[in-house]
Amino acid sequence: MTLHWTDALAQHWGIQARLTQLAGEYDLNFLAETLAGEGYILKVMRPGCNRELIEMQVSALAHVRDQPLADLYPEVIATLQGVACVSCLDTDGKPRLLWLLSRLPGRSYAQSAPKTHALAGDLGRAIGATDRVFETFRHPALDRDFKWHLMQALWIKPELGVISDPDRRRLLQDIVADFSGVLGQLQNLPTQAVHNDINDYNILVSDEFCAPRRITGLIDLGDMCIAPRICDLAIAAAYVVLERSDPEEALEALVAGYHAENPLLSVELDVLWPLLQMRLAVSVVNSTLMAQAHPDDPYVVISQAPAWQFLENNNLHPDLLSARLRVACGLPVTSSAPAIEKYLDQMRGHFAPLMGVDLDHAPMGSLSVEASCWPQNPFDLPAAEAARVGQEFADNTPVWLGYYNEPRLIYTAPAFRKGRWLASDRRTVHLGIDIFAAQGGWVHAPLTGRVHVVENRTAPLDYGGVVILAHDTPDDQTFYTLYGHLNPEVCEKLAIGQLVQTGEAFCRLGDITQNGGWAPHLHFQLALTIDGIGEDWPGVADPDARHFWTQLCPNPAALLNLPDDKTAYVPTDKAQVLADRRAQFGDNLALSYAEPVMFLRGWKHHLFDEWGRPYLDAYNNVPHVGHAHPRVQAVAADQLKRMNSNTRYLHPARTAFAEKILSKFPPSFEVCYFVNSGSEANELALRLARAHTSAKGIVTPDHGYHGNTTGAVEISAYKFNAAGGIGQVDWVELVDVADDYRGRFGRDDAQRAQNYADQVDHAIARLGAKNIPLGGFIAETFPSVGGQIIPPKGYLRAVYGKIRAAGGLCIADEVQTGLGRLGDYYFGFEHQDVVPDVVVLGKPIGNGHPIGVVVTTRAIADSFAKGPEFFSTFGGSVLSCRIGKEVLDIVDDEELQNNAQVMGERLLAGLYRLQDKHAFIGDVRGMGLFIGLELVTDKVSKTEATNLASYVKNRMRAHRILLGSEGPKDNILKIRPPLTIGADDVDMILMVLDDILTEAV
Ligand SMILES: Cc1ncc(COP(=O)(O)O)c(C=O)c1O
Repeated sequence: MTLHWTDALAQHWGIQARLTQLAGEYDLNFLAETLAGEGYILKVMRPGCNRELIEMQVSALAHVRDQPLADLYPEVIATLQGVACVSCLDTDGKPRLLWLLSRLPGRSYAQSAPKTHALAGDLGRAIGATDRVFETFRHPALDRDFKWHLMQALWIKPELGVISDPDRRRLLQDIVADFSGVLGQLQNLPTQAVHNDINDYNILVSDEFCAPRRITGLIDLGDMCIAPRICDLAIAAAYVVLERSDPEEALEALVAGYHAENPLLSVELDVLWPLLQMRLAVSVVNSTLMAQAHPDDPYVVISQAPAWQFLENNNLHPDLLSARLRVACGLPVTSSAPAIEKYLDQMRGHFAPLMGVDLDHAPMGSLSVEASCWPQNPFDLPAAEAARVGQEFADNTPVWLGYYNEPRLIYTAPAFRKGRWLASDRRTVHLGIDIFAAQGGWVHAPLTGRVHVVENRTAPLDYGGVVILAHDTPDDQTFYTLYGHLNPEVCEKLAIGQLVQTGEAFCRLGDITQNGGWAPHLHFQLALTIDGIGEDWPGVADPDARHFWTQLCPNPAALLNLPDDKTAYVPTDKAQVLADRRAQFGDNLALSYAEPVMFLRGWKHHLFDEWGRPYLDAYNNVPHVGHAHPRVQAVAADQLKRMNSNTRYLHPARTAFAEKILSKFPPSFEVCYFVNSGSEANELALRLARAHTSAKGIVTPDHGYHGNTTGAVEISAYKFNAAGGIGQVDWVELVDVADDYRGRFGRDDAQRAQNYADQVDHAIARLGAKNIPLGGFIAETFPSVGGQIIPPKGYLRAVYGKIRAAGGLCIADEVQTGLGRLGDYYFGFEHQDVVPDVVVLGKPIGNGHPIGVVVTTRAIADSFAKGPEFFSTFGGSVLSCRIGKEVLDIVDDEELQNNAQVMGERLLAGLYRLQDKHAFIGDVRGMGLFIGLELVTDKVSKTEATNLASYVKNRMRAHRILLGSEGPKDNILKIRPPLTIGADDVDMILMVLDDILTEAV
């Protein structure tokens, strides 16, 4: 059959092409590809197809041709005779109409990923522009009756009996009833030509590898008809919400995109939800009817699954959704909102004082992510802490106020979290004003109100006693105020519907046994409507939905007779920090991520940005025992209370730290030097080697990194060979990194360790040829910036033998690999079965406090001691020594080396599974929590997939996981979390990585 149409294409259009059949409900659609790579869509209509419907589409496509959105629609290709459409006999001898379209780039939205909010916004813009252009399109065939005409969707009502499951049938009956309820409103809306079938297979999305997705086409105008334009948006919306965890946000983006191109009215937004549901109802009823007609086609039922899944499980509230969509379009949250806000503003200064006193001079106290450390553990607010929240502000004042619109980390219960992980989004932004005052203090009604809710919510950290009052403006617009954390006696005093007069003392602040367990305060919140929130108002909002919730529950300052700006929290503006940073620092101070991130708090292996969004930190090795470890805080604070001094005075903390370090080393290590950084430590290691050998020549692997000081850069090929680097100095010779995945000696080479080591002979010889005697060899034991490389066993043993034979010292840079990270080994050199002469330790040992350590033998120390005094003002300060010792003790006490081993194994096992699944994972390597994932374009060529690594890193960040990329071509994902990481976090990394690698193609 395909051949038949191939011939027809050649005959009528003069195009020789290979045809591939595409899906279609009634008609035959073929993708026609020529040898030259041109693509067309050949449409072979069903026998008996109405020619007028094709003419309608042809003229609609002509109508959009000169418009800015023309690229989104295919072009009609005329036949050799210059007509758009011809009739041909099919193989059964039946006449069919044929027409030809240009092919648009991209793949269907259904098969596209990721489905970001930006893409939904782009789709909204495309639909908005389409509807604007079609407003002036007329064609007689547009006036039609058919099952996909959303205005005629009530045809399903008598068919609902086909749905056998009674719950599902009832659900559809409700949807039909909702739709019938708005039909009158719909019929009053202006009508126009609409696409009417923007389903997920008719939307095309760009599919360039690792590039942001955008809409490239809205195809198939076969269902065009006359309807209100909101039908077009509702149909697309019905598909956009499917199979996603954030349908509201996606709808907001879609609708806002549309509105930007083609402004919508509130009345249109209000009918979107019933229309959306009705479209899905039509879809499931239609496919159930089809399934009856084609009982053997399992696809008909499978294709219903996402629609049912959404219809049965979504918890969207129509009123709340309408309000959200209005705000997304910049419209008032409710029609009465502007009048209520105007009234409140006019009345500011005239309301009865809420606490019976003027609050003008009450100080504000911030519990924000940035300004406060409440709670210490942002995942757990113990009762003792809740009872003391903000106590620092209470010292000098009987009343203090907590900010509106303030991101806080005190809301730690899982109910505030939106997903299953600790790093899932959570609600943080306070939607009321807090008035902290003595327990038992009376609360007065700022204006007359009716009791709408009075309850005692007894769960820990809930409200305890709570009252909601309803108030009417003089224009009879109703708004509501909420009073939380009350003495529950209020439940006896007030009844629903009871009137509370202006100034009436109607409730009292509860004590901690009554108010949910909090330091006594009133949570005071305003809502402009309760439609959609009922009695259960969120007191705290998701920071990414703040734009909406702050419209629904605006700043209630007016009711306290206060100016808004006194009580509104203004966070540090990230954009300003970025601009200042650019102005104040050099351009080679790098920032991670396309959209930089600003962290203000941390806890163990999580970080929090300025809005309290949590991130899983799978990258930073400095917080070795976890961010903000309480024991590290405690020793630092304790020592700062006492004094801090240098190595010229005795202090037991210094020797205790040295003793702890040396206890981890083989006995030949007897002497420690304390400095402030890894760079300094490497610098000192070079001096030790020179002092001991009286020689300067250094052999070191390529792509190594040892620090930012002059000497450290000179031995760091990663820096001196980088673009703009200083180049190689004559006393340094490079050898290959012992990379047995990509390097010249692979894993199939049993001699690879020896072969890599043999390069050292040549390096020594090259130094010799320059008359530069060998001082030593320095290497990161497992090269990190070189790509998280684990050298083959035996490599360093062979290298050290050669270096020592030539009179050099062996220096191991263990900044990345030391202190238990590797799980099986405390230091990397143990894996290589060698004992270095000098070992360099750095950043993890201070857990954020700057410490570097050099550890060596007595003999080498003696050589160095022949020179001038060694002194570092801050290296070895009492403070540093106490912190360093505490970190090492914590690694032992919390068995973090063991955790690194267990979690590392879990992570590696999962990554190996992903490697089997994804063609892009060339290599998985690592040990403990030192892991590299090498991304390649394909496993045979091993070409470095640099773009993919960058894409994955940025997408992981969008999913709130931090990891890095490394390697000469920056294609190796680096996973190197604090050693506290847990099984759930590892699973999150694996699951999200799997999704992202799937979506990248
Ligand atoms: C292996 C290695 N050595 C030395 C350093 C330098 O340490 P610092 O930045 O503390 O000077 C680093 C830093 O990343 C490193 O990774």
